[in-house]
Amino acid sequence: MKVLLGVSGGIAAYKAAALTSTLVQRGATVDVILTAAAQRFITPLTFASLTARPVYTSLWDAPERIPHIHLVREADVALVVPATANLIAKLAAGIADDLLTSALLAARIPRILAPAMNDAMYDDGVTQENVRALRARGYELVDPERGFLAERERGIGRLASPERILDALERAAGRRRSLLGKRVAITAGPTREAFDPVRFVSNASTGATGIALAREAALRGASVTLLLGPTLLDAPAGVDVVRFSSAAELYDAALQRAVGADVIIATAAVSDWRPAERSEAKRKKSAEPLTEQFEANADVLATLGERKGATFLVGFAAETEDHERHARAKLREKNLDAIAVNDVRGERGFGPGENELVLLWGRDGRRELGRADKATLAARLLDAIEERMRCS
Ligand SMILES: Cc1cc2nc3c(=O)[nH]c(=O)nc-3n(C[C@H](O)[C@H](O)[C@H](O)COP(=O)(O)O)c2cc1C
Repeated sequence: MKVLLGVSGGIAAYKAAALTSTLVQRGATVDVILTAAAQRFITPLTFASLTARPVYTSLWDAPERIPHIHLVREADVALVVPATANLIAKLAAGIADDLLTSALLAARIPRILAPAMNDAMYDDGVTQENVRALRARGYELVDPERGFLAERERGIGRLASPERILDALERAAGRRRSLLGKRVAITAGPTREAFDPVRFVSNASTGATGIALAREAALRGASVTLLLGPTLLDAPAGVDVVRFSSAAELYDAALQRAVGADVIIATAAVSDWRPAERSEAKRKKSAEPLTEQFEANADVLATLGERKGATFLVGFAAETEDHERHARAKLREKNLDAIAVNDVRGERGFGPGENELVLLWGRDGRRELGRADKATLAARLLDAIEERMRCS
């Protein structure tokens, strides 16, 4: 395993040296970047001696190799121990003003941060917001623990134990190439069914789940096509994005771009109906009640099920009642290999926050993926899908 280890400027920087030694003893190749502040706590010499490799401290030292790009291209995983409040804030804002922040911004490999700081710094709303934003972008954070802090007080902010950090690293490295060579197509977001040039019927989907899955599948080495509906959320880097607006456009895009993939995951919230008539001009306001006739859209998922071939086809069921019974019926009727169920009462499950999923397959296969942020759920769902693919 090739690890890019970032060390930022906190008291726990000394613990990064012990971790480096453990990694080297386990056979990992470790390249170390120290921030300027980190060098106030520990010297490059310590890491150079432990790794028997050069240690990197500046964006400007070896311009012939553009260090922030080649370091992340050569690594399997990027890990920061400790991650300061400052580093976390810079990453959340996309600031890249030194070697470590530039390398992390350029990384298309799993990125793991182990924060350590005073408990008040960690508790502060802005740090918590930054942590959430980074998780939503696919960073893994190894939460700090409660314990004795440098200020001789107890609180949450102590660096996670080496075992927890190494566990996260090994999980990330294992995931890294698990979908190499596979073609994965994911549908995401809402549809818009227009009844005049400015008005449409839509739903509360934001595409966050499909975007998180696309990012995770790309991290695992898959070649990913993301069919993405109208959303303000950004598609992840390194995936092929095909935009759609209406269910009919998604239907065409799915037939052209998803059929034949090794895995299709259909998370898009597709409208079952569309207005029977779409007027070319904006409809004028009137005191009369508006009666609209709707007609059925073609069923994208059922069509993918009919043309499934060797594809592993996963659907999503957003239900408000009797969830698993409805989902099992959909699993059978649409010829799916598995279905993820989520409860969308009161718009739960929509947006970039947390969700809770259960995966169903076969006659009675069932796995609870638990409640978590969408990046974590995407990793758990892909783990479960890969396991099912190995079994089938
Ligand atoms: C003695 C001392 C200890 C510090 N410990 C921490 C710490 O544990 N966690 C943290 O987030 N910041 C800590 N800081 C503040 C950071 O060093 C400071 O925010 C710095 O700008 C971080 O830069 P970097 O993120 O580029 O490494 C400490 C500062 C001092 C002077």
